[in-house]
Amino acid sequence: MLILAFESSCDETSVSVVEITGGCFTVKSNMIASQIETHRLYGGVVPEIASRAHIEAISQLTYDALETAGVTMSDIDTVAVTANPGLIGALLVGVNFAKALAAAYVKPLIPVDHIKGHVAACYLTENGDVPKPPFIALAASGGHTGIYLVRSYTEFTEIGTTRDDAIGESFDKIGRIIGIPYPAGRGFDELAREGFILATGKEEGFYQAYPKSDAYRSPDYPLPSPALRDGSLDFSFSGLKTAAINLLNKFEMTKRELSRPLFAAKYTYMAVEAVASQLEAALLKYPSCDLSVSGGVAANSHLRARLAEVTKKLGRRLFIPPISLCGDNAAMIAAAAYYNAEAGIFADSSLNASASDSITRQ
Ligand code: KG4
Ligand code: ZN
Repeated sequence: MLILAFESSCDETSVSVVEITGGCFTVKSNMIASQIETHRLYGGVVPEIASRAHIEAISQLTYDALETAGVTMSDIDTVAVTANPGLIGALLVGVNFAKALAAAYVKPLIPVDHIKGHVAACYLTENGDVPKPPFIALAASGGHTGIYLVRSYTEFTEIGTTRDDAIGESFDKIGRIIGIPYPAGRGFDELAREGFILATGKEEGFYQAYPKSDAYRSPDYPLPSPALRDGSLDFSFSGLKTAAINLLNKFEMTKRELSRPLFAAKYTYMAVEAVASQLEAALLKYPSCDLSVSGGVAANSHLRARLAEVTKKLGRRLFIPPISLCGDNAAMIAAAAYYNAEAGIFADSSLNASASDSITRQ
């Protein structure tokens, strides 16, 4: 099956051609037009600008995706598109374009949930080594922090979530205050690495050594855990963000010099440990499940290493896409669409976009 997929839920327009044979996924093309430079001026995504940029990019990107894959519309079996959740104006661009193309070329149309799309990035391997349901999935991005029980490739149950900010959003907001350009996740990751090395004097094994360091114990960086301690698998990243803003204000008011690397290390450690502890609890609750981790924040080097440790300790497998497939892209939408097609989930010409998630809470 050859799928042409579209993704336009936020600030990346993406079009991809993916071939699926015998449960193996081959990404023939995965074109991504990022709007990051445009939104960087404003320190975050401006929805109306995002919609307009999708409109400008999507036609040419479709020609490019087909040409790179070496196929034409007549080779395509199915058209797939992210229909929810996301910025509504941005989603509408992809949905409308995909609907028109499917109608013009008489192809079936498959709607995809963006979160399920992120999880499906783990399926994009050519050797068929993918997580098998039931498994636990973490989707951590700029807009979402959710832990899901994946009962089948199309049936997800939310078992944990953030009650306020998403983890990526919190990195972006705090990163902006300490001078890291939008989106701050990658810069934060690198600055934290510097901080861990500074705190421990170790180039390797610094994360494990960090909690024994003076910098970790120092009363200068008091930051709370975003893992809620109410027996749930939920988070509050807004609590961590507020504590960080107060701390940064205090440094400013007392004219004390802030060590940006040490601050980034402490912030990252608190965020990563919270995710690790909630995922460990989820894996203990579901003893036969492996773990998949995806979304933009799955690119975080400290999170990747820490979750490898957690799964190894529990004797489970960890599936994380390569960094190039962690962020928003249409290849992951094609992977999710394949399973929607298998389950008979298609859309007709009345398909609309929706800003909300299709995954329900347990
Ligand atoms: O999945 P994604 O591309 O878009 C959304 O669906 O939101 O995720 C973008 C988020 C941003 O908040 C960005 O700062 C974060 O992923 N991110 C990272 C890293 N790389 C990207 N966060 C932490 N560490 C990283 N290395
Ligand atoms: Zn995303």
